[in-house]
Amino acid sequence: MGVPRRTMVKVPHSHPEVVVMLPNPPYDQRISSARVWSGIWSITKHVLLFCLGMIVGALFLTSNDVQKRCLESMVAVGFSSHRAREICYKNPTVSHSGVLTRFDCMPRNANAQDCRRRGCNWDESVQNVPYCFYPDNYGSYSNENVTNINGRTTATMRKKLKSPYPEDVDLLQFEACAETESRLHIKITDAKKDRFEPFYPVVPQVDCKSSKNNQYQVKISEGKMGFKVLRSSSGKVIFDSEDIGALIYANQFLQLNARFPAGSLLYGIGERQSTMNIETSAFQSFTLWNRDAAPTDKINLYGSHPFILIRDQYDQNNSKWHGLFLLNSNAMDIITQPGPAISFRIIGGIMDFYWFMGDTPSKVTEQYLEVIGHPHMPPYWALGFHLCRFGYGSLDNTILVWNRTRAAGIPFDVQWNDLDYMDNNNDFTISPKFSKLSEFVEMLHSIGMHYIPLIDPGVSAGEKKGAYEPYDYGLELGIFVADEKNKPFVGKVWNGISTVWPDFTNPKTVDYWRVMLEKLHSQVPFDGAWIDMNEPSNFYSGTRKGCPKNSLNYPPYVPNVLGGQLFSKTICPSAKHYRGNHYDLHNMYGISEAIITSFALVEIRNEKRPVTISRATFPGHGHYAAHWTGDVFSTWNDLKLSVAQTLNFNMFGIPFVGADICGFNGNTTVELCARWSQLGAFYPFSRNHNSDDTKEQDPVILGPTVVTAAKNALEIRYSLLPYLYYLFYDSHVNGKTVARPLFYEFPEDENTHLLETEFMWGSCLLIIPVLEEGKTTVEGYFPIGTWYDLNSNKTLIAKSALKKTMNAPLDLIPLFVRGGCILPTQAAKATTTESRKTPLTVRVYLDANGRGQGSAYFDDGDYVYSIDEGKYSLVNFAVKNKVLVGTVAKSGFAQIPTLETVLIHGECASVTKLEVNGKTWNNFTHNKSSCILTTIISANVLEGIKITWQTS
Ligand SMILES: *[C@@H]1O[C@H](CO)[C@@H](O)[C@H](O)[C@H]1NC(C)=O
Ligand SMILES: *[C@@H]1O[C@H](CO)[C@@H](O)[C@H](O)[C@H]1NC(C)=O
Ligand SMILES: *[C@@H]1O[C@H](CO)[C@@H](O)[C@H](O)[C@H]1NC(C)=O
Ligand SMILES: *[C@@H]1O[C@H](CO)[C@@H](O)[C@H](O)[C@H]1NC(C)=O
Ligand SMILES: *[C@@H]1O[C@H](CO)[C@@H](O)[C@H](O)[C@H]1NC(C)=O
Repeated sequence: MGVPRRTMVKVPHSHPEVVVMLPNPPYDQRISSARVWSGIWSITKHVLLFCLGMIVGALFLTSNDVQKRCLESMVAVGFSSHRAREICYKNPTVSHSGVLTRFDCMPRNANAQDCRRRGCNWDESVQNVPYCFYPDNYGSYSNENVTNINGRTTATMRKKLKSPYPEDVDLLQFEACAETESRLHIKITDAKKDRFEPFYPVVPQVDCKSSKNNQYQVKISEGKMGFKVLRSSSGKVIFDSEDIGALIYANQFLQLNARFPAGSLLYGIGERQSTMNIETSAFQSFTLWNRDAAPTDKINLYGSHPFILIRDQYDQNNSKWHGLFLLNSNAMDIITQPGPAISFRIIGGIMDFYWFMGDTPSKVTEQYLEVIGHPHMPPYWALGFHLCRFGYGSLDNTILVWNRTRAAGIPFDVQWNDLDYMDNNNDFTISPKFSKLSEFVEMLHSIGMHYIPLIDPGVSAGEKKGAYEPYDYGLELGIFVADEKNKPFVGKVWNGISTVWPDFTNPKTVDYWRVMLEKLHSQVPFDGAWIDMNEPSNFYSGTRKGCPKNSLNYPPYVPNVLGGQLFSKTICPSAKHYRGNHYDLHNMYGISEAIITSFALVEIRNEKRPVTISRATFPGHGHYAAHWTGDVFSTWNDLKLSVAQTLNFNMFGIPFVGADICGFNGNTTVELCARWSQLGAFYPFSRNHNSDDTKEQDPVILGPTVVTAAKNALEIRYSLLPYLYYLFYDSHVNGKTVARPLFYEFPEDENTHLLETEFMWGSCLLIIPVLEEGKTTVEGYFPIGTWYDLNSNKTLIAKSALKKTMNAPLDLIPLFVRGGCILPTQAAKATTTESRKTPLTVRVYLDANGRGQGSAYFDDGDYVYSIDEGKYSLVNFAVKNKVLVGTVAKSGFAQIPTLETVLIHGECASVTKLEVNGKTWNNFTHNKSSCILTTIISANVLEGIKITWQTS
């Protein structure tokens, strides 16, 4: 739940803070020419400084005067008079590939006079682009001493021009390190002193290696500003910052501008509530500063992911993709513009970039996850359906809803409670209305279900001394985030009077948090932790009295954050943590809490896998924990955007993700909730959750339409869980995505590049949800291949890619399996615990050449070290020439289900004979009209299996 929730207006744009945000355009605070001239006419300090003796003349300024003044002020900034003349007497409009490209020279309070003083061009003849922009060859820094030894390119960058921001760094150290053949690491640091660098994610430290096979090259030239990165195979520049815009490296303002190749497509940069593909036809600003705000377009949200996936080349069936990651935890704006081009404006830390050369999207993700950490392996039960709401109000009511959900036969694994289970909203307490919670949870365990409660980071500071141990003990250990006087920093969240925040960067907090969770666990044996409000969210902006006036709380440049100040609805940036200022650490608060929570859960729950569902995230988060997309609205728009959000987080290395099914804020409707239940059954993390000021929205209360939709879709999910579980294994071990866009599988098919209405599980399952109101059909796009309709078993052969309109009544979600896949499945039961006990079915879906492959992964489902200790089994299946073989790749876990049924889809010829492990086997049926060959066997796949068949 979010800060403004109770006052949240349902129409996002009428939200008071959104209104504040909207007139603040992302690229520039442009000022009308009338205001510019009135600015010049008024006797400002600039006029006094630069037009001394010209005050009278200023009333009758000619363009000559403007140019003259421009010249004077540019020379004062450090330009040569020749260069100043070039700039002041011309007013070039920079053009690149025929598209207007402008690098904003004055992102705040732009006006012609100050613009020219910066040595920039002013042109307000074009709307919706910066009026004040850098000329070509601005040359704020100049490269010197370029060296290149053993895969390590270094240079010194010397400041040539003063920036408008305080504390410019005079000398920068540039280092480009060839870390692997596909991974380039470029760091630009202060040559003389250390600056802040984030401690998460823990990135690999490797020696640079020169190799002829490097897929990239770095070009940095003496006397120029900036550098270029090229793709070796084509020689094409994929990142060009050489003499583009201005490099700025002031203490609290770091800027780098660059161009991408014409025609590039951009994805990534999160968290945001908009399409996956970043529209570059207009200027857009993306602000990264973790913030509790109901997901809305163009505002900073709960997590910060400065990662970009770029399609740098596409020509007829040949596409190349790469990734760009900025490892920096400070607040920043990332601005994209036509060209396409990019600007990074960061208010602290260093410039620390990684390039991942791909060249496919899925390779880019693998290479990125090698740096930030592979996703964790969730327990099997967590892949079941979860149900929650804020405002059950009592255990009795929780049980009522739980009971009717089960009674309706909806597969269901995890019951949750929001804040209302706590006493007075205080962490680690139980409300009298939930006094029998522990019996309920034990009963859930007895029937193979699980339970997850909400836990906020904020600890109540307003209880009587001795009455609330979480505060007293924290105070004693000195683990709370501190103010400038080294007293706990006090704000307010849900607690009655006031709130303090544990500092998860303090080593002592590891014990503190474990002890607190352990005490709660000894009262209620919960199975996971839902960590909310960890941006961190604060009902105050700073303390009750705001934040001290200093350069951390009021930096010279404030990115386009919601609310206009860094401390809007959070802790003061000047607050102190064990490892630094909140200013630098803010975006890592959530990941720090998630890591310590997950470690505590492993200890408390005897080495079972932790389930930590966190709202705030940062790169590397997926290695430890999961995410849900926060307080989405019950609207069709949010339903649709949840696809993009789910896929983005898979790209960010947090595959265990989902949106609140049926929407959190606002009242849902039967139709919306039916459609959302269908789509939500295919979120990797599948949970229905709802706010307390809305109508109940568990499937049963909404009636048979929603029950049927949810039940049908969840039964399919449950039957496919062995496949989903394998995908999580593949993600954990190999850095693959679980849910993925079609262009991850079909990068050569340009039609998939902007396709955001359908997605896949792995390479095999195509999900085509209905995302619009009042529709009972949906158009699907099918890349070349054979597609098996999972609902009807009909085969769709796409000799060339095709679009097809399909029936999609309210009880059905179109699902297709790609020819060439082999899926392990089990029967859907009331819980995953029961499903896991049912026999295994292997479903083979032949491609046009009669081939296919797939894998099944088995372990005990819950032990945290299953993979590390080799206590798992892995079987790879492959079929060709009517021979299906199951090969044991690993046999470290024996209690696996019996393989009972093998289904071969796509065998249309009459089957005359079938053999299992070399012996004739008569127990098969063949349906010629549906082309399905079914055989019933009873085998242990860990002994290997071979099935052959003959046709006439
Ligand atoms: C550049 O190289 C020269 C010659 O090796 C050296 O004297 C000078 O100190 C270097 N400058 C910087 C800024 O590193
Ligand atoms: C659950 O519902 C069934 C009827 O569907 C009822 O018999 C049973 O008592 C209920 N259990 C609880 C704990 O409410
Ligand atoms: C939801 O509907 C209920 C009942 O009609 C109404 O009382 C409530 O105000 C609505 N909530 C919202 C957030 O619109
Ligand atoms: C489709 O095939 C599956 C086996 O893969 C079977 O369980 C199901 O009943 C079939 N559905 C229809 C509509 O024939
Ligand atoms: C095939 O196997 C099923 C399940 O074990 C069994 O019920 C059936 O009788 C068998 N049919 C034949 C022809 O052996």
